[in-house]
Amino acid sequence: PAMLVMGLTGTKLGCAEGGCGACTVMLSRYHPGTKQLHHAVNACLAPLCSLHMAAVTTVEGIGSVARKVHPIQERIAKCHGSQCGFCTPGMVMSMYALLRNNPTPKMADVEEAFQGNLCRCTGYRPILQGYKTFSADGECCGGKEKNGCCMKNGNEGLQSSEEITDATSLFNMEDFAPYDPTQEVIFPPELMDSCRSLCFHGERATWLQPTSLKEFLLLKWKHPEARVVVGNTEVGIEVKLKNMVHPLILAPAFIPELSAVTHSEDGVVFSAACTLSHVAAELRKAVRTLPPHQTEVFLAILEQLRWFAGLQIRNVAAVGGNIMTASPISDLNPVFMAAGCKLTLMDKGNGSREVQMDDSFFTGYRKTAVRPQEVLFSIHIPYSKKSQFVSAFKQSPRREDDISIVTTAMSVTFTPGTDVVEDLKLSYGGMAPITVLAKKTANKLLGRRWGEELLQEACSSLAEEMTLDPSAPGGMVTYRRTLTLSLFYKSVFHLFHLIQLFHLIPLFPLFHLIPLFPLFHLIPLSVDVSAAEGFPGVVSFLFADDVPGSNVTGMRQDETVFADGQVTCVGHIIGAVVADTQIHAQRAAKAVKIQYEELQPVITIQEAIAARSFYEPIRTIQNGDLEAGFKQAEHILEGRIHIGGQEHFYLETHVTLAVPREDDEMELFVSTQAPSDSQAFVAKALGVSANKVLIRVKRLGGGFGGKESRTIVLGAPWSGASPVFLDRFHSVLHVLLLQVGFLNSGKVVALDVSFYSNAGNSLDLSQAIMERALFHMENSYRVPNIRGQGFMCRTNLPTNTAFRGFGGPQGMMVAESWITDVAHSLGRSAEEVRRFNLYLEGESTPYNQILHGLTLDRCWDECLSRSGYEQRRAAAQLYNRQNRWTKRGLAVVPTKFGISFTVNFLNQAGALVHVYRDGSVLLNHGGTEMGQGLHTKMVQVASRVLGVPCSKIHISETSTNTVINTSPTAASVSSDLNGAAVQNACEILQKRLEPFKAQNPKGSWEDWVKAAYFDRVSLSANGFYRTPDLGYDFETNSGRLFHYYSYGVACSEVEIDCLTGAHKNLSTTIVMDVGRSLNPAIDIGQVEGGFMQGLGLFTLEELQYSPQGVLLTRGPGSYKIPAFGDIPTELSVSLLRDAPNDKAIFASKAVGEPPLFLAASIFYAIKDAISAAREESGLTGPFRLDSPASTERIRNACSDRFTKLVPEPQICSISVRVEIKLNYFIHFLCSLN
Ligand SMILES: Cc1cc2nc3c(=O)[nH]c(=O)nc-3n(C[C@H](O)[C@H](O)[C@H](O)COP(=O)(O)OP(=O)(O)OC[C@H]3O[C@@H](n4cnc5c(N)ncnc54)[C@H](O)[C@@H]3O)c2cc1C
Ligand code: FES
Ligand code: FES
Repeated sequence: PAMLVMGLTGTKLGCAEGGCGACTVMLSRYHPGTKQLHHAVNACLAPLCSLHMAAVTTVEGIGSVARKVHPIQERIAKCHGSQCGFCTPGMVMSMYALLRNNPTPKMADVEEAFQGNLCRCTGYRPILQGYKTFSADGECCGGKEKNGCCMKNGNEGLQSSEEITDATSLFNMEDFAPYDPTQEVIFPPELMDSCRSLCFHGERATWLQPTSLKEFLLLKWKHPEARVVVGNTEVGIEVKLKNMVHPLILAPAFIPELSAVTHSEDGVVFSAACTLSHVAAELRKAVRTLPPHQTEVFLAILEQLRWFAGLQIRNVAAVGGNIMTASPISDLNPVFMAAGCKLTLMDKGNGSREVQMDDSFFTGYRKTAVRPQEVLFSIHIPYSKKSQFVSAFKQSPRREDDISIVTTAMSVTFTPGTDVVEDLKLSYGGMAPITVLAKKTANKLLGRRWGEELLQEACSSLAEEMTLDPSAPGGMVTYRRTLTLSLFYKSVFHLFHLIQLFHLIPLFPLFHLIPLFPLFHLIPLSVDVSAAEGFPGVVSFLFADDVPGSNVTGMRQDETVFADGQVTCVGHIIGAVVADTQIHAQRAAKAVKIQYEELQPVITIQEAIAARSFYEPIRTIQNGDLEAGFKQAEHILEGRIHIGGQEHFYLETHVTLAVPREDDEMELFVSTQAPSDSQAFVAKALGVSANKVLIRVKRLGGGFGGKESRTIVLGAPWSGASPVFLDRFHSVLHVLLLQVGFLNSGKVVALDVSFYSNAGNSLDLSQAIMERALFHMENSYRVPNIRGQGFMCRTNLPTNTAFRGFGGPQGMMVAESWITDVAHSLGRSAEEVRRFNLYLEGESTPYNQILHGLTLDRCWDECLSRSGYEQRRAAAQLYNRQNRWTKRGLAVVPTKFGISFTVNFLNQAGALVHVYRDGSVLLNHGGTEMGQGLHTKMVQVASRVLGVPCSKIHISETSTNTVINTSPTAASVSSDLNGAAVQNACEILQKRLEPFKAQNPKGSWEDWVKAAYFDRVSLSANGFYRTPDLGYDFETNSGRLFHYYSYGVACSEVEIDCLTGAHKNLSTTIVMDVGRSLNPAIDIGQVEGGFMQGLGLFTLEELQYSPQGVLLTRGPGSYKIPAFGDIPTELSVSLLRDAPNDKAIFASKAVGEPPLFLAASIFYAIKDAISAAREESGLTGPFRLDSPASTERIRNACSDRFTKLVPEPQICSISVRVEIKLNYFIHFLCSLN
């Protein structure tokens, strides 16, 4: 709030848990020793009290449009690295902190600087491309395009849109202001003084900041219950997300001895408050200067630190914090244990003692042998010996900035000059409530010769020792057990490379798994707020009875503003706390007591099918003669695929500010894609007519479909001027059953598919989503005899809603699954079978629409040639023959995306254009800006029709009192619909101005406007557009459904690690038909951003629920969207040339949703690589791979001798990793200004 009052709104709050980087600021501190003054840190986890003697620089502090933008701000903008802009301040500050420390960074430094920053819109390439321009070795644009580097090609500014077809030509280096580090603000000298001991008292906590070791030990002695806080990256999460209260905090970061690094004869000693960045820098220095045999342990720690969180976290998190947290999935503790590190503990009474970091140190889940009055003083990390070898591996769902699933470290010491094991330490994280040493195995092997026999025994022993209960917290039991073997094998493999001693093929014993059967329940309610009423700042509580109008709401009127009588899902909002601050509201919400009576919930699609719990209607599209088709087929295959849902993960969550006006009027500033729907919902809830409710939308920090209908849950806007912040919603889930018939030639002649979606506890948009899945069930392939049926499951999950693509990607994903299976079963290449079945011009879809202007074949051929598919395929085959445990795969995948709302009445748009007396133009249209560049395109349209420069045209906002009855900004059609409406309005104005132009042909725009005004001609015009000739009817399967189609093709290559399931995205080439692009920079940004979201959907993002339906994967800590490191190493996007589209504004095409599906090329490239791995085990033919292709699924599908030793438990339980607080239902807030 203080920042808002000061007008410093640049720094954004995205996740509030250190995972997104939107809140990045630069913290500057004076360290007499290191002189390292500047750090990028996450503001959301930085306690205010910790900022004593620190300077904080926010994005406003480095430049602004009003003053002068900083070169860092300029370059991200000019390189199109900002779409919705929500992540941009964080990106800018990460780069700024890097440049303040190092004005000529290397590319590796730039990439490291962004490990902790997420962007959901851009696809990252333009951000990196822009910031490579600051690096000493990054002259290249990063596009790695075949045509050469954009900066060396001498592009002179932006060419005309027809000339620009790829990402290399989107900016010109010469336009950039040079970066001059000498112009930066100096460090405030007054902050170079020494620190004082301080004490801060807050409402619930006291913060003590000692500045001497003696004082610190005395305080801990007096207050053994006090919590020590250094980086606050653990404690901050406990307080913010786990509702823990620590009344007394000791902050020892200013004690010089606690940040010291000392080198001894046998190792390095790091004091406990040394940050991880500091540790990494010191170890790197040691690796550079010490003999290699002494640095084995250091290298293993550096390897772990490389994948440890993002830089912002490592800049503040202390090594002592990691040890003392005693997390079973700590990345460092396994290495410390295997390396035999020693800890020094201190207390005031007993002085200091040294303890070995072995398995007696960790005494239980997050417990250590450190006594309450003791503190951790330092850790001694030993040098390795000549015959010692150390390795460490971490496996996490996402390679960068992610917590581990399993971590391992191994240290082997041989008797000098022999291969006899003198010492072996093998440790695991993620396999028990504490970090464990595989002691039994290690002891058995002492004195033995290192060879195949020993390794076989080691594996058997290890498998017996490292057991895991099927119900173990964290789930993924089979995968984790397989990983212990795989990572051990990798450690051995690593060692093998180092010492070149032996060649091995270990054998592994069987595990025995016990299945778990969890109980499911759900509940109606009674609510007691008495305990919360006296809480500070609480104003009132709101429930269903307080809704002045109708409590019934939702797209299908099957939802409630507040739960009434019964809650139908976890997260169903029962009521709201009105309080003066967010924190007060949250505290009060937690104190509300709710009594429940348990009911049996339906959570999964399988449960819904068993209970026949479906919404109506069950849609069917049928064409041709299915029976005859299957008779004609020479082969029939059956299959199924499950496609997981996806969080929208817009960095800006839902937010509304409601301002009551006179006469029952309400003005709302809403982050919505559908202002008119929000208007209708609010009016109904308030019991007033729509003309009393004004919705205003300046811009959204991302939408992706999640802010289309879900703004209905905004709750009590009538309660006052109320910012309302809500969690996110997610998208659809599908399980599909299919049967496909085909000929020996590969021609598909019959297809029967049943789709099941998990719609959740209300219908919302699920029907239209299911319909679009059906409309895309054949993707780009002609199937003469076809039937698709769609079942929407009614479950007790929070309602699922739209996501970019709106069911289309799910329908097409299934098509790619069966076409891959057809190829596999015929032993043919999937690309050959795909190409053979591609639609031809003039063929008809299952819903009887004739395809005209088809460019699929052109996109396909161009993509193959641009990607060098044939050469890549040959090289991958060679690679696969030469490598057993890594495999490469390729896939070429097309997309055909229908453009129009499939609900016909939505295909309309309005615009209102005002021309003022000074010639400036105010443009209003019905679309909302959420980073997709709609406003820019609309300004371009108006500029072209009116013949005035873009600089004269302004769009202020989208509002329901300027353009009415708008359709949501969705379905990729907003540029088409609103562009045509803007064109219409501008043409009306042009016509009105024509006489004045004729009278004064040499006059200026301003002259004509002025003349028209004095002649009393209206200079304000409404425009309107409705898409012509649409009218599909499900009953008759006839009528035109789509106005046209957008096409594209992608070719991707990946490499998988068969032992761990990790994969690298090596290259992607996309050729996209966007017609004659209105704005190539925007369109390429949309293609890349959509592709990266699809990459998340199909390979990374996984929603996990508890059996009660609690979403466990909330926030970036547990839900992983693609990060910088997930961009394909080579990413080339080009727009198809010479492909004008006569159906849309200025021959352009829609681009928002169609490219998302092209990321399926990564998924099927992974499947291709898995096929190669399976072939090594003698497995050929079709196999099932569900989406996303997570590390777990890839590893399990590789099916080798290790996976066979760890069979799947019969019933796979999802473990509950969080405690469920029932009053979670009431966790959102309103605060009065
Ligand atoms: C976004 C994010 C990503 C993360 N990623 C990873 C990851 O990849 N791998 C990983 O292992 N961890 C990860 N963590 C966990 C965390 O960052 C580390 O455990 C970190 O090292 C904790 O250090 P800190 O200084 O922030 O600890 P704090 O939160 O300040 O303290 C943590 C605990 O240590 C105790 N403590 C600290 N110093 C002392 C001392 N001198 N004596 C006694 N007790 C002490 C505190 O009392 C507290 O209980 C992540 C956390 C976040 C928020
Ligand atoms: S808001 Fe701080 S990291 Fe996301
Ligand atoms: S521009 Fe990065 S999140 Fe929108």
